[in-house]
Amino acid sequence: MTATDPVTDRAALRRRLAAELEAARARTRALTHDVFGPDEPDFTRQHSPLMSPFHWDVAHIANMEDFWLVRRGAADTDLVDGVREDLDHLYDAFTNPRAGRTALPLLTPAEARVYGERVRERALAHLDAASFDERRTLAGGFLFGMIVQHEQQHVETMLATHQLRAGAPVLHADPPPASVVPGLAGTEVFHPGAEFLMGTGDTEPSGEHADRGAGPSSSEEPFALDNEKPAHPVRVADFWLDAAPVTNAEYARFVDAGGYDDRSLWSEAGWEHIRAEGWTAPMTWERVSRADGPPRWFRTSFGVREEIPADQPVLHVCFHEAAAYAAWAGKRLPTEVEWEFAARYDHASGTTRRFPWGDEDPTPEHANLDQRHLQPAPVGAYPAGASPRGVHQLIGDVWEWCDSGFEGYPGFEPFPYKEYSEVFFGGDFRMLRGSSFGVGTPNARTTFRNWDLPIRRQIFSGFRCARDA
Ligand code: AVJ
Ligand code: FE
Repeated sequence: MTATDPVTDRAALRRRLAAELEAARARTRALTHDVFGPDEPDFTRQHSPLMSPFHWDVAHIANMEDFWLVRRGAADTDLVDGVREDLDHLYDAFTNPRAGRTALPLLTPAEARVYGERVRERALAHLDAASFDERRTLAGGFLFGMIVQHEQQHVETMLATHQLRAGAPVLHADPPPASVVPGLAGTEVFHPGAEFLMGTGDTEPSGEHADRGAGPSSSEEPFALDNEKPAHPVRVADFWLDAAPVTNAEYARFVDAGGYDDRSLWSEAGWEHIRAEGWTAPMTWERVSRADGPPRWFRTSFGVREEIPADQPVLHVCFHEAAAYAAWAGKRLPTEVEWEFAARYDHASGTTRRFPWGDEDPTPEHANLDQRHLQPAPVGAYPAGASPRGVHQLIGDVWEWCDSGFEGYPGFEPFPYKEYSEVFFGGDFRMLRGSSFGVGTPNARTTFRNWDLPIRRQIFSGFRCARDA
């Protein structure tokens, strides 16, 4: 953005944030009120102990917006009356773990919807009045962007709840585009080592950027969350990275070769977990033997049972399964540093960019996002989204497991609340990068850091492999 007329710029920012708030809400509705009547048991049922009932997510989304945009987002006061401050405790994700949420005296689906609408009206009134330069949390519209991203994160989580829901399909989407790059699966790309700028932004109040008169460099993301900051130089050694995520066909060869029975491929924790759970293939996979040929694999995707598309990235594997495949293939998982380097560093210009394809925001030509297709696209379906070295589908399709734990970058500061990132640092988490088909464009960044326990696979997770040079 080259700031010429601050008034026009502010109006454009307000319009963009209002549109993003509405787009997130439209997805929330598409996964809840548009498909379940307010009294339908599926709305309020616990579909899995790993997930919340849908009406908890709907009201939690509203409550976060109530807290941050209605009470804290007012243009010129620090605190104004909220819509329902009395609900903060009920919808606090920390005091109430997912498995116990149906037992709480929750708002009904109809009440949750009305609560969300009333909060939204007040939030939009604050947005209309915002000058975006009063306080650090509001500078550049940050709080509004943060709340857009929060709703979009729960939109992805609700989609994962749909995946665990039993019964007839209720969600429908166009099929993904076909591959236009034959022979991509299993190929590797050499990355010469270099120093690059990992992460984004600085730890200073972001309002100061405006005073410097310089437009944001391509490495700055105005809506980056605290754990993506600050930008810091990292030296990367030479390595190889798969040109595409590991496909279903590749993964099926590992399964058919006895990968889940070969103790030597698994870590102790991974082996214990797959044995205890009885896992012998990715989530929902079903093996159908045939007398006259190799077995075929079926999956269930949002209630539709279908033959597994051979050239789509494998989906719903946990970190341990990804690591075992990599060991079987004679490779390893990339580190978070290597992943971000491959996604951002342009060797030709020596710069760290926003996306594999450059600095332009993702379009439907670049990546499979926004729940547009409700499944990964085959590898080679997004040539316009490839990196200069030819690494495909880093953004969209499937989250990619990385062999790194969750830590703050040097100079990390919690912002605006410790419970987003800091309380998870140093825990038993593994990082996921790149976003999935379930992620909204506002959250799709190469700097975005996602994390989960290494045993989790109800998320839209896959992986690609790396190798030392
Ligand atoms: C970043 C996906 C791990 O769902 O636990 C939602 C996102 N944080 N509300 C989560 C989040 C607060 C978070 N993850
Ligand atoms: Fe949340």
